[in-house]
Amino acid sequence: MSGIGEFARVGTKAALEAGRLLMKHVRTDFAVAHKGDVNLVTEIDIAAEELIVGRILEAFPSHTILAEESSPEARRGSHTWIIDPLDGTTNYAHGFPFFCVSIGLEIEGELEWGVVYNPNLDELFAAHRGHGALLNDEPIRVSKVSSLNSSLLATGFPYDIRTSEQNNLDYFREFALRAQAVRRAGSAALDLCYVSSGRFDGFWELKLSPWDCAAGYLMVREAAGRVTDFKGEPGTIYGKECIASNGLIHHEMLDVFREMASVTT
Ligand code: IPD
Ligand code: CA
Ligand code: CA
Repeated sequence: MSGIGEFARVGTKAALEAGRLLMKHVRTDFAVAHKGDVNLVTEIDIAAEELIVGRILEAFPSHTILAEESSPEARRGSHTWIIDPLDGTTNYAHGFPFFCVSIGLEIEGELEWGVVYNPNLDELFAAHRGHGALLNDEPIRVSKVSSLNSSLLATGFPYDIRTSEQNNLDYFREFALRAQAVRRAGSAALDLCYVSSGRFDGFWELKLSPWDCAAGYLMVREAAGRVTDFKGEPGTIYGKECIASNGLIHHEMLDVFREMASVTT
């Protein structure tokens, strides 16, 4: 029977291989299609996903795949691999070098292991539940910044930004005024890894999908950070609200959501 060591070996190899595939084709003439007004998918997203899914099912044929491009609605199994073959597709399509591969593994409903690979910087983030988080094999930890006023935050905007009122522009304004600065770099999985490694102090976003945050949530928690929804309940990758932070500024971030909710009700 395979154990977590074998799952991690196969998952890591698949992430590295997919990352190399992304780098081989970036800034080439690949086909791009629209999934929505501003939601793109390239033929490289699809090729990377096929590669990852192929490697995983070859090793573990009975496992379940929940993957953005080919099986976004899959029902979870006892072992479910949650895959974003290219997080940061808009960046990729424009040749902006901030994108990654994200793979998480849920066992019996619990996030057990995850990896995020940024091939631009050759940075491999990995986390194993109860065993901490690593960046290129070195342990990582969230930052020690203890006030929102001194924090560097990150966020993103949902693909229905043009049509939905819940498009994060109101929160963005508020945090931009209260934090030291806010970045919108275009890859939620990397944003979460940057919180894990202390490069960002906090992150929030709404309407993320499980593949955006499966590996990233585990990473933040294993790096001693905190992940919740906007009310402070433990964050789940199947929920629609995410606050991830170093823990120290979490209550101040929650206050902003509380204040804004009381203004709108
Ligand atoms: C997107 C990125 C982006 C976030 C969006 C995601 P994709 O994923 O993570 O930063 O703001 O919500 O959907 O489409 O590039 O895989
Ligand atoms: Ca994504
Ligand atoms: Ca994607």
